[in-house]
Amino acid sequence: MSEQSKKSSLSRRQFLKGVGTGVAGSIAASKIARALPLEELEKASPPPGQVLITLKVNGREKRFHVEPQTTLVEVLRERLQLTGTKVVCNHGECGACTVLLDGKAVYSCHMLAIDAQGKEITTIEGLLSGEELHPLQKAFVKKDGYQCGFCTPGQVMAARALLLKKPNPSREDVLEGMSGNLCRCAAYPKIIDSVLEAAKIK
Ligand code: FES
Ligand code: FES
Repeated sequence: MSEQSKKSSLSRRQFLKGVGTGVAGSIAASKIARALPLEELEKASPPPGQVLITLKVNGREKRFHVEPQTTLVEVLRERLQLTGTKVVCNHGECGACTVLLDGKAVYSCHMLAIDAQGKEITTIEGLLSGEELHPLQKAFVKKDGYQCGFCTPGQVMAARALLLKKPNPSREDVLEGMSGNLCRCAAYPKIIDSVLEAAKIK
């Protein structure tokens, strides 16, 4: 590896590390309540300033005491350790945090956990069948639809929502359906090929 490429790969790693630290920091800074066993939660009154919420995530009901301003992505990553869902902008702009709510793609950084009650929440982990990748994930691997991979879970979830709505999309449909998900590596052509490939798998 040349000195120049060593430097650039190092800086990319540092950048990703920086992103990771920022994400962890922002979540740690949020005031998320301590997890309690279910029976205790149901008996106990919420601590001051918190509310008891129930979320259905990947088919399982979970209850938490949270401050009302807690976002869905904070609960997913910090409380449920479902860290496949990524945070980049934390501002409803990039789509890295995309999950499904009743089959529709939403930005989980831009949604309060309290508002996700009563919906079926699906994260990237919920697409797996045991250890088996979902056909969409296989299509991304087959078509090389990623580079650093940081945006990939959000891209896959957006693609899942698109294919649920439109199982046989045209290239234009895919372009439009995936337009809410940014990729800093600009892997767009292969991401689109991956979604079209997944649509062929019945
Ligand atoms: S992290 Fe949620 S939209 Fe960017
Ligand atoms: S693959 Fe790197 S940000 Fe999309």
